[in-house]
Amino acid sequence: MSAPREHFSSKLGFILAAAGSAVGIGNIVGFPVNAAKNGGGAFLLMYAIFVFAICLPIMMAEMAVGRKAAKNPVGAYKALAGENSKWGLAGLLGIITPFMIAVFYTVLTVWIFIYLVMTVTGQLDYLASSQGFGEIINNPYYLFSAMIVVGGLIAVILNFGVKDGIERAARIMMPALFVMLVLLVIFVLTLDNAMSGLQFYLIPDVEKITPAVISGALSQAFFSLSLGMGILITYGSYISKQTDIEGSAKLVAMCDTSVAFIAGLMVLPAIFSFNPNVNPDELSDSSVSMIFVFLPKIFLALQTSVGYFAASAIAGVFFLLVFFAALTSLVSIIEVPVSYFIDERKQSRKGALKTVFISGAVLAVLSSLSFGLSDTLTNLVEYGGKNKSLFDLIIDMFYDTILPLNGLLICLFVTYRWKKHNLNLELSEGNKNFGKSFLAKYVDFSLGTFIPVILALIFINTVAKIYFGYNFFG
Ligand code: PHE
Repeated sequence: MSAPREHFSSKLGFILAAAGSAVGIGNIVGFPVNAAKNGGGAFLLMYAIFVFAICLPIMMAEMAVGRKAAKNPVGAYKALAGENSKWGLAGLLGIITPFMIAVFYTVLTVWIFIYLVMTVTGQLDYLASSQGFGEIINNPYYLFSAMIVVGGLIAVILNFGVKDGIERAARIMMPALFVMLVLLVIFVLTLDNAMSGLQFYLIPDVEKITPAVISGALSQAFFSLSLGMGILITYGSYISKQTDIEGSAKLVAMCDTSVAFIAGLMVLPAIFSFNPNVNPDELSDSSVSMIFVFLPKIFLALQTSVGYFAASAIAGVFFLLVFFAALTSLVSIIEVPVSYFIDERKQSRKGALKTVFISGAVLAVLSSLSFGLSDTLTNLVEYGGKNKSLFDLIIDMFYDTILPLNGLLICLFVTYRWKKHNLNLELSEGNKNFGKSFLAKYVDFSLGTFIPVILALIFINTVAKIYFGYNFFG
């Protein structure tokens, strides 16, 4: 006999945990930079529309599937489609994808932890130096000790289970994250030139909106809400029938969007204050290099007004904030394969953690060697006209390619296999009036029509771009 399924203690606990998953490195760095480069206020508006018009129905569908089946993604697809159904493959993707995304996200989190430690030990000037980033990510001693700390923290949280681990961590870290974010915004807005950053961030520039920007905004919204990763199916399996899925999903979407928006109020004014003549088009494309190369320079530049010690303290708060955001996201994504081993392979939570951590650690170590330490892993394959490392390969395949595919599959699944009236019934549990609402009709219509079409287009465009070097959007 297995133990009864664990549950979040309340709707609030669930919302905090799901928001903890959604709020990640993407919100704090990716969103502000993208918004600044791609039309400011116009990007923001488009992003918000995508969050509610396209992502919210998918989010509700994932949560509903999870709660109905009370299982991990593999178990959920099987439970609702039949033991031998081909939909089991969609479930399998729902386990492999988060596992692989967790691998590269772990590498980023490990770097953030190293940055946090170096900042609070007075080495901000080294982080801001031209060789800092390159040396740090290729320093095996730093990497492995930080990996042990990050892995240890995640293991401890997940070992405590759903309520005492995941939920408790989110209850502590999410409010702390929010307070730190607001404090940093207040501080940054007092700096010289902050207002030009704000203007740049918020004033709409409709000319910058191109098809590529539109598709970028949608992808950003999709990833940012942790869709297509099996996370919301898994978290949905831990909520009670009394929990109102519609209301919870709306709050998670709102929370995620607000954090992204507020992060912009911090990052853009900071950049402009650091360099008033900055040309935002030159901001790094990748949010990854942005955080690791550019931000330490911005923080160090603050020393002229507040001194080295205070500049380091502020940078420390920032990296702690990003670290919290990354940890709650990592916890959520690692819980997916863990729940699979518990449900389907009948392992204990400890046993499942061991399986996932040992295999994940091997891959995370290999990925972290693919920035120069191992030549083979650094130049692992070539496609789309580019040399790719193991780290690039994992991002291209799982983050960029398979995520929209998973989104497409869940839309098709709830519409054509599980059937809309079952989805509707499940969404009405804990929310008696849902069936009569406008949103119910919208969810019903959109999930079977334009949402899967849009996701299919994104999928095709990504495959063409990444693997064949062909860009539909010019
Ligand atoms: N929503 C996360 C972010 O914005 C994405 C993510 C979630 C990544 C969970 C990994 C795990 O960064």
